[in-house]
Amino acid sequence: MNENQSLTLRGDTFRIYLDRKTIQERVAELGRMISTDYDGRKPILIGVLNGAFMFLADLMRSIDIECEVDFLKLSSYGVEKISSGVVHELKKIDAPIEGRHVIVVEDIVDTGLSMQFIMDIMKKYRPASLSAATLLHKTAATRVEVPLQYVGFKIKNLFVIGYGLDYGQLGRNLPDIYIIEEEE
Ligand code: PRP
Repeated sequence: MNENQSLTLRGDTFRIYLDRKTIQERVAELGRMISTDYDGRKPILIGVLNGAFMFLADLMRSIDIECEVDFLKLSSYGVEKISSGVVHELKKIDAPIEGRHVIVVEDIVDTGLSMQFIMDIMKKYRPASLSAATLLHKTAATRVEVPLQYVGFKIKNLFVIGYGLDYGQLGRNLPDIYIIEEEE
């Protein structure tokens, strides 16, 4: 990190796109919305590993009603910067969610294929209700329209890292979200 707030990862230079304060304020807003919308319904948040872990942790801390958490894991893109659209389920949820109010929590919706795949899986468990929260939505890249009830930021079609999002598994620990310097 230098005074221009750029950093180098795997030979590419990145600069801040969404800073931590902006992220935290928006996540807190989403938490307040969920607290209001789900009051008395004890929702279960289903985090999609790995990328959603940081957003999920902050989102859950912003929710002030009773709620639970579980995780599933998909595999798709590896070190690629562009979505391949090939999705596999690597870890299933453990919690019984039949009759529960389920909120799927993603870090990013890009093509939308992952979220569609997850929603199809969740519906088979027959939850009482099902909604989706994503920190980021790359609207121009979306190939399948999946209803997204809670969206942190609609972003351009840029490769983003930080705050859970990785570049070849690195960068997830960054508190801010970055894009490659020459992009935009
Ligand atoms: C990312 C992200 C979503 C998916 C979105 O996961 O966490 O699950 O891509 O892309 P889509 O809308 O085009 O399907 P990734 O495969 O990078 O794994 P990770 O969460 O472990 O980083």
